Amino acid sequence: AKPSQSPKQSVGPDYRPEKQKPTATVSTEVPFENVHTLSQTPQLIALLTMIRDKNTDRADFIFYSNRIIRLLVEEGLNHLPVVEHAITTPVGRTYAGVMFQGKICGVSIMRAGEAMEQGLRDCCRSVRIGKILIQRDEETCMPKLFYDKLPEDIADRWCLLLDPMFATGGSAIMAVDVLKSRGVPENRILFLNLIASPQGIENFAKKFPELRVVTAFIDQGLDEKNYIVPGLGDFGDRFYTM
Ligand code: PRP
Ligand code: URA
Repeated sequence: AKPSQSPKQSVGPDYRPEKQKPTATVSTEVPFENVHTLSQTPQLIALLTMIRDKNTDRADFIFYSNRIIRLLVEEGLNHLPVVEHAITTPVGRTYAGVMFQGKICGVSIMRAGEAMEQGLRDCCRSVRIGKILIQRDEETCMPKLFYDKLPEDIADRWCLLLDPMFATGGSAIMAVDVLKSRGVPENRILFLNLIASPQGIENFAKKFPELRVVTAFIDQGLDEKNYIVPGLGDFGDRFYTM
């Protein structure tokens, strides 16, 4: 992949003149139609600034990550299909509305992906959740599959695949291969992610052109240990153990 720039943009409410807005690094643009980046709003950039800061303690890291996860889930739900659904209101009038078409389930890539389950549950009451335990080898950075437990009828559901960090893309690619081996069509998988690298996005978008990615931010690249830069460090450690 080409080394990416770190685009900067003025950030602030629309009513402020451009020159009164601060600049901040915003998400790298990528040329893939199936990759959707959250709108780079002042709120999102402020939340990401909190979780990227190495001085943010664990309680704040969890709180602000959960805020971004909620935004991701809310946006992700906009990518699910709906069908016409007319209802009658208590005053006897018809309202031409819509309802979601089909069943969904969440699938988290353990451990870090489990941090996104509550955000999904908060929006989709009693949603089914499957788990895939994939760990990246610390030396080689290659993913290893240890375990999976998925709803039996997963092939009939839309799958919201959950993992906050998308570095080389190896773990997410392995998880999608597991889902496809259980009969889930690629075009019914939606990958929800906090921070991605351009390399991971490119690998994924080319391998799975029909799968949709909703991410909060595409970063600059990877370092020599395949950590995302500028990134936020090890998400799982910061959320669960630090
Ligand atoms: C992290 C992260 C992803 C993976 C990303 O998990 O949550 O699953 O690394 O890297 P990749 O795109 O290069 O595969 P890790 O294996 O460190 O486990 P954890 O969830 O227990 O922290
Ligand atoms: N996993 C993380 O938690 N962070 C990275 O930057 C890469 C993989």
